[in-house]
Amino acid sequence: MNMNEQIIQIFLDHPNQYISGEKLSKELNCSRTAIWKHIQALKKKGYVFESTPRLGYRVLKTPPEPLDLSRIISGLDTRFMGLNVKYVQEVGSTQTLAAEMVKKGANEGTVIIAEQQTEGRGRLGRKWFSPPGTGLWMSMILKPHIPLQFIHQLTLLISVAVCRVIKKLLDVEVGIKWPNDLYINGKKMCGILLESSAEDERVKHVIAGIGISVNLQQEDIPEELKDKMTSLCIETGIECNREELLISLFNEMEELYLLYLSEGFAPIRILWEALSICLHCPIQVQTHQGLVKGKAHGMDEMGALMITDDEGKEHKIYSGDVSLSLV
Ligand code: BTN
Repeated sequence: MNMNEQIIQIFLDHPNQYISGEKLSKELNCSRTAIWKHIQALKKKGYVFESTPRLGYRVLKTPPEPLDLSRIISGLDTRFMGLNVKYVQEVGSTQTLAAEMVKKGANEGTVIIAEQQTEGRGRLGRKWFSPPGTGLWMSMILKPHIPLQFIHQLTLLISVAVCRVIKKLLDVEVGIKWPNDLYINGKKMCGILLESSAEDERVKHVIAGIGISVNLQQEDIPEELKDKMTSLCIETGIECNREELLISLFNEMEELYLLYLSEGFAPIRILWEALSICLHCPIQVQTHQGLVKGKAHGMDEMGALMITDDEGKEHKIYSGDVSLSLV
């Protein structure tokens, strides 16, 4: 056992008890400064300590169990989705790692999962908050033979897959804000970012980045995001099993993806409309052409949001930022 493991073992042998730096340093035959340094290293790994003058340290929270890939793979019912998983503790962005793996010839269905991202990317150049052990931060490699202009439909498909899985596993009111953000009680808990390459106007590969805030607690969320983001754990009050979520997501993703490849966007569009939280209520969309205010009444066959504005004029929105009066 290395020094960090030995320190943790001492805390495990004395559950809920304070242990002083002096006692630890005597038991492990090292200086108190060395103990302090190891405690700092353990904090970075997700341990939370309370330190009280004269009493010492007490462990308040241990990091979550790492994902067990063999358990995930044995739960899958897929032909390719999730059968090849690269699992890393920390990475800048799983999108970047996935792009490197595509270059090396990674198969369709390969998924990169990180416990923590230090440079997580969101849509429109935003940052994606990806703290250790509490979320599912992943990138899926897909190679659909579709024209480039259909790529947006894949994002919609993925939002449907994630939303259906959450509804199946948890008793929570989750819905999709156009195009692909998942919301619970007016706050976002999942975002999707598609990055792709094309040749002759046809898609060569897609890297579908999915970020799901699973077990973050209220205190894990930075102040500036508190009124915008939530997690499954905050909304349900229970710690969610990330492996179970992944298994269902890979199964659901493959099923919808194969349906899409064989029957096109029509069935996905029906599912998306049923899960949408933007339809038939007052909505504003900031587009490149300006602000559109009105009511969305559906999605067209390409995946554009159809809005009737307050003057009765029809709009088809292909990209933009939606705000709802409810969200
Ligand atoms: C959004 O802005 O809503 C999209 C967020 C996408 C976040 C995921 S987390 C895994 C993958 N790696 C990234 O850097 N981003 C995506």
